Amino acid sequence: MAGFTTLEGKNVVGTNVIASYIYADDDTEDTPKITIRLYFEVKIMRIRQFNPLKILSHRENVEKIIAGENPPPITCEIDPSNLCNHQCIWCMYEDFKREKPQLIPKETLLRLVKELGGGGVKSLIFTGGGEPLTHPDCLLAMSLAKDIGMKVGLVTNGGLLNKEIDESIVDICAFIRISLDAATKKKHAELHKPNEAAIDNFQNIVSNIKYIAELKRRASKVTPTVGMAYLAHPKNYMEIYDAAVLAKEVGCDYIQIRPAYLPGQTVSPHIRKETQDLMIKALHLDDERFNVIPILHRFDEMSGLERGYSACLANALVGIIAADCEVYCCCQLKGNPAFSMGSIKNMSFWDVWNGSKRKEVIRRIDLAKCPPCRLNRYNEIMNYLADKDKLHTDFL
Ligand SMILES: C[S@@+](CC[C@H](N)C(=O)[O-])C[C@H]1O[C@@H](n2cnc3c(N)ncnc32)[C@H](O)[C@@H]1O
Ligand code: SF4
Ligand code: SF4
Repeated sequence: MAGFTTLEGKNVVGTNVIASYIYADDDTEDTPKITIRLYFEVKIMRIRQFNPLKILSHRENVEKIIAGENPPPITCEIDPSNLCNHQCIWCMYEDFKREKPQLIPKETLLRLVKELGGGGVKSLIFTGGGEPLTHPDCLLAMSLAKDIGMKVGLVTNGGLLNKEIDESIVDICAFIRISLDAATKKKHAELHKPNEAAIDNFQNIVSNIKYIAELKRRASKVTPTVGMAYLAHPKNYMEIYDAAVLAKEVGCDYIQIRPAYLPGQTVSPHIRKETQDLMIKALHLDDERFNVIPILHRFDEMSGLERGYSACLANALVGIIAADCEVYCCCQLKGNPAFSMGSIKNMSFWDVWNGSKRKEVIRRIDLAKCPPCRLNRYNEIMNYLADKDKLHTDFL
């Protein structure tokens, strides 16, 4: 039982039934992984905003995609900017940002938001590329999106937050996720390499997260959900538990822990084990208002992803518009010209989305070359639904 005593008696997501999943009868090397995974699977079903089955709330679109039709995306991710105030050691868009240090021009950005809202897109995530808040009109575009009826999310490194921006985003957003990735100023500086050397960037981010949580509490609002994101990497895994403590202290609703994707690099079994142990330790911090969310399947996917499906159907659920004004077929392929479906510089988003080039690009997707991606769970569900030969669907 050595690996499990840390979770003993823990009643994390509401029932003792769940606690029973986390106990094991023996102490073999494989057992901790299996039990923590089961624990996670049950937990993630209960944290509704992370439950992959949420795509079934969009059955009509899912069925149309499976039938080969072309419904609008449910969500669009917009990168207003390829500029960044940080230089994270793992940034997956490093080359793209260096080659195309651009912003979506203001008029194009506002037109895009209006087009997306008018065409039935339900939510927009402002992300990067670079840092979305480096765009001088990012808040204006976010506010416009809300005014025309879309839900808005913001993924930010937090370095450019101030009280005025905090007040606006709490008013506009359904979720705010801050990529902090460290529990100490020293580690944060080593990993994120912020430009703002003159100010205490880490402390500034932490103070702003606190203020955002405080504003939300004062307004007694359920949203925006406020999350801290933590990319686990060989250089920072040792601060996972402390970061979870910090996230809880500053009033976040959750800390989400996922691995940094480093193409061609593997993580040693020792670091994997330490990372897992610290995530298990952090799960102790869960209570009715705070959740530790280790994205466990992503860690497994890093060491070789066996996809149980043969087609990427889920890319049609999410539209990706990058700072170079190109529409890409998914966020992992952003910046790769072979996967651009067209530009919104001189065309509407819908002309690109419904255009023939999009079909060509989708045909070019080679799953064997795809990195682990956030749409994997959606692809599993959609490919299951698409399979015409599955047995026993009528026996429940
Ligand atoms: C590219 S950033 C853009 C938004 C903002 N600059 C930020 O860092 O939150 C979006 C997300 O991608 C994540 N990311 C960047 N490089 C990554 C990598 N190599 N593996 C996994 N996630 C990565 C960041 O941690 C962040 O949560
Ligand atoms: S803050 Fe975001 S965009 Fe900037 S370098 Fe880091 S991961 Fe990349
Ligand atoms: S990485 Fe591959 S599987 Fe994932 S969404 Fe992109 S194209 Fe689809």
